[in-house]
Amino acid sequence: MTDSDELDLDNIPSHVAVIMDGNGRWAQKRGLPRPLGHRQGVESVQAIVRAGGELGVKILTLYAFSTENWNRPAAEVQALMGLLKNFLQSELKTITENNVSLRCLGQRERLPDEVGNVLDDAIARTAENSGLILNLALSYGGRNEIVRAIRQIAEKCRQGVLAPEEIDDKLVSAHLDTAGQADPDLLIRTGGESRLSNFLLWQLSYAELYITETLWPDFRKKDFIAALAAFQKRQRRFGKISNQVG
Ligand code: FPP
Repeated sequence: MTDSDELDLDNIPSHVAVIMDGNGRWAQKRGLPRPLGHRQGVESVQAIVRAGGELGVKILTLYAFSTENWNRPAAEVQALMGLLKNFLQSELKTITENNVSLRCLGQRERLPDEVGNVLDDAIARTAENSGLILNLALSYGGRNEIVRAIRQIAEKCRQGVLAPEEIDDKLVSAHLDTAGQADPDLLIRTGGESRLSNFLLWQLSYAELYITETLWPDFRKKDFIAALAAFQKRQRRFGKISNQVG
């Protein structure tokens, strides 16, 4: 399936999260250095942000750089930071014109200043936009996010402004980087691996998982539509039995 006509536009997942894997393999298959795979991956980012907005996705969360990615060779980390900065600068106009609101998940403070400053600027300039929310997970790790939330909650308990009995799912969600946003309905992972890689560990509890062998630099609108179509064939039961969900 490659045609959006075949999608049920009343059943588009509100929040789609993506593990953009396979850039390195894409480059290696062509005898190219790995950063060129990441560069090609930026074109997929542009295509999927556009497609998400067109198809009525409300929130798109992209795993652009994990806490563990800091351990890659310095040249690759540098190349990724450069691509992020260029993307934020060169796409700002398009993002703004398309009413996209940019957000960041993760440890903003670990980013080099030249990336962090451009990111802050892009977030501020698009804050009032009412269209697609684009979450970029940068220096992001699901466990780190949960630890940061626990620390904030513990601090409130210590100060006496919160009682431990008041801690529930909603309160924990409200202390995560995705506070105020619905959880992902669909997780897409490109590159064929079947793991979560420390991504949105709390928020993905009831997400449908869609894993494709397609490498991220090859993943374009038709592949995104195929993922949404697969989602539309799933029956989401949230722990209930089939008869209860109709
Ligand atoms: C995983 O592929 C991908 C990443 C670590 C980085 C993803 C970054 C981009 C797509 C470009 C920059 C992002 C934005 C938002 C502009 P891998 O290198 O682990 O691939 P492999 O598994 O084939 O080695």
